[in-house]
Amino acid sequence: MQLENISKNNLFLIGMMGSWKSTIGYKLSKVLNMEFIDTDDVIEEMTGMKITDIFTEFGEKRFREMESAFFNEKTKQSRQIFSTGGGIVLDENNREILRQDGICFFLKAKPQTLAKRIHDSSKRPLVAGSKNLEVRLENIWNERSPYYKVCARHIITTDSLTPVQVLSQILNILEIPVADH
Ligand code: S3P
Repeated sequence: MQLENISKNNLFLIGMMGSWKSTIGYKLSKVLNMEFIDTDDVIEEMTGMKITDIFTEFGEKRFREMESAFFNEKTKQSRQIFSTGGGIVLDENNREILRQDGICFFLKAKPQTLAKRIHDSSKRPLVAGSKNLEVRLENIWNERSPYYKVCARHIITTDSLTPVQVLSQILNILEIPVADH
């Protein structure tokens, strides 16, 4: 699958919090020499606020509106790699964009794996202060898994992989020769 043949040439990484979307997206952007967009980082830059503070001050609904408005606008451009917030798939229009405007990779991991990877909950108000992180993640996963699956063109199960191995799998799928990365 040659990237050049894909409409808009955008790549999307979706998945739960802790699924390495940002880590992999950044690495991928270096290898492919494409613009890297982390939707959470952009929202923080645009508002001058931390995600947690946006949730506290304006609520999740307002955060979702900002996320969707930015995503809808930015995906009109091409040759970008998007590491998306875990809840991007909740919006129907976002799901349509993920399916239509590029190649969407779902980085899948069990709640148990995600819980081990999540150290900083400052960008993750939905799990901050959870007594049982794994159970909280499981509940979120149960609500969202159909959405991730319907958006994904490719599913990569990352539980037993390193970030470099995940990157290699994506490059293989894209049929991009794997050099040093
Ligand atoms: C969210 C995930 C976070 C961030 C916000 C909401 C979610 O991003 O967008 O806290 O609803 O799953 P990451 O998936 O990058 O942690």
